[in-house]
Amino acid sequence: MTTKKPIRVAVTGAAGNIGYALLFRIASGEMLGKDQPVILQLLEIPTEGAQKALKGVAMELEDCAFPLLQDMVLTDDANVAFKDANWNLLVGSKPRGPGMERADLLKDNGKIFIAQGKAIDAVAADDARVAVVGNPCNTNVMIAAAQAKRLTADRFTAMVRLDENRGRAQLAKKAGVSINDVSDLFIYGNHSPTMFADFTHAKIGGKPAAEVIGDEAWLKNDYLPTVGKRGAAIIDARGLSSAASAANALIDHVRSLTTVGAIHSVAVNSEGRYGFAEGVWAGMPVKTTATGYEVITSYEMDDFAKSKIAITNDELVGERDTVKDLLA
Ligand code: NAD
Ligand code: LMR
Repeated sequence: MTTKKPIRVAVTGAAGNIGYALLFRIASGEMLGKDQPVILQLLEIPTEGAQKALKGVAMELEDCAFPLLQDMVLTDDANVAFKDANWNLLVGSKPRGPGMERADLLKDNGKIFIAQGKAIDAVAADDARVAVVGNPCNTNVMIAAAQAKRLTADRFTAMVRLDENRGRAQLAKKAGVSINDVSDLFIYGNHSPTMFADFTHAKIGGKPAAEVIGDEAWLKNDYLPTVGKRGAAIIDARGLSSAASAANALIDHVRSLTTVGAIHSVAVNSEGRYGFAEGVWAGMPVKTTATGYEVITSYEMDDFAKSKIAITNDELVGERDTVKDLLA
């Protein structure tokens, strides 16, 4: 029996597809540890359908008899969902369907993050941390963080871990090696097709990935678009946005951010690093420390990498311009 104090995890969009692939793993200890009790605080929209579906998910969680699941709160009120929450996982928002671009979601989903950013800042725990998944996640996290007066910008992150996982898997497949042989692959910029999956510093079996693959044209012209457009390829194949792999990536994102020494890709407030505009949230490598994380700034970018970063930065700046009314 563990004597640890429970961690409160707020999850929005809890009755959605990602929610269904996520909650059971949090409750079983995969995200915060096998000896760490959790309290799930689940937010859904106030419609009868969503609240009924949420109740159904909670019934299933109960039926799993998870020893670590100490309590559940089901609500349509953000101030209840985020009350004293240590982790705030912002999943709830509209996914894109076939043929849609992420930019189509900007205005619709952006509004959600004003209210939620405000509520988190007002009622969440002093050590509250936020991970945004709902798209376009880089810009949504910027909107939420803009509401914060109490919590500092470093507490607000968005998820590019799915892209890192996709990027590692594609390199392993091409090289015919285990995923465990691929390291140092980080995602820079937006969670969108403009992202830069930095193969120039990636390693396979400890050697430069470009040397092992031996095909620069493939890396530039096949690999980058395959990773960047994987979300659309999944939507095309499934008819639905990725859910299990997104939930898995969110588990990885939080687990890495709570594992001192872990190095991984996170979208953070750029503060002008790697040539990104000040104040946009961009993917980059971070290392978890005892008190939070530090951005790794030591990677030297060549002209190709710089040109890719410039493209994804332009898109982030464009998104920020589109939602400027929501940032006031
Ligand atoms: P879904 O439609 O299955 O579920 C979304 C849920 O959110 C719904 O149940 C809906 O009622 C709820 N919701 C909507 N507005 C809400 C609000 N204001 N407060 C609380 N709940 C709200 O969608 P999904 O497949 O779970 O995807 C959710 C989001 O995650 C989408 O925006 C999708 O594009 C995004 N996504 C991001 C990544 C990533 O890597 N960053 C990967 C996959 C999906
Ligand atoms: C993904 O990358 O799978 C998600 O962000 C869904 C999408 O719209 O691409």
